[in-house]
Amino acid sequence: MDIFEALFTRRSIRSFTAEGVSEEDLDMVLRAAMAAPSAHNSQPWHFVVVRDEEVRKAVAARHPYAKMAADAPVVIVVCANPAECKEEGFWQQDCSAALENILLAARGKNLGTVWCGMHPMEDRVEPVREILGIPAGINILGLVVMGHPAQPFRKVDRYKAEKIHFDRW
Ligand SMILES: Cc1cc2nc3c(=O)[nH]c(=O)nc-3n(C[C@H](O)[C@H](O)[C@H](O)COP(=O)(O)O)c2cc1C
Repeated sequence: MDIFEALFTRRSIRSFTAEGVSEEDLDMVLRAAMAAPSAHNSQPWHFVVVRDEEVRKAVAARHPYAKMAADAPVVIVVCANPAECKEEGFWQQDCSAALENILLAARGKNLGTVWCGMHPMEDRVEPVREILGIPAGINILGLVVMGHPAQPFRKVDRYKAEKIHFDRW
């Protein structure tokens, strides 16, 4: 798929078919995640891939806006190990770049995704940490719910010329 087709038709998909995600597609999506840029190329990301239905249901029950995690075949929780960062304060940006790559790579494979935010909401982070056994000291950015879409990928154009400031604000 053309990269611009993927970019402009990536939508948050919140309803999924029962079809599973192939190992090959999952592998490609995770490879895309780790192809992201990161500060000092430190690549501090870690990914918890949740396929177990009971665990997905437990996550869905504890995140106020991720109910679809119960129904989609895969949930990827994007984490960072701050000990792998070369400078403080960039892990959110590193992990966001990786997470966006997941969304776009999935679109390239005709898989639907939705980014469900967690950091900095402790009431979303801590229950998921507990359910998945993510150690204290590992940061959790958010999660991606992924599967075959049961809704169309609509194209949107959010271009606003007034958002662009040439040479100075
Ligand atoms: C940081 C962040 C947190 C988000 N959290 C949620 C969430 O918890 N649940 C959800 O359904 N969508 C969530 N979204 C998806 C946004 O609602 C969605 O991207 C936005 O409405 C634009 O729609 P689009 O993704 O279809 O272009 C989140 C997106 C971002 C970037």
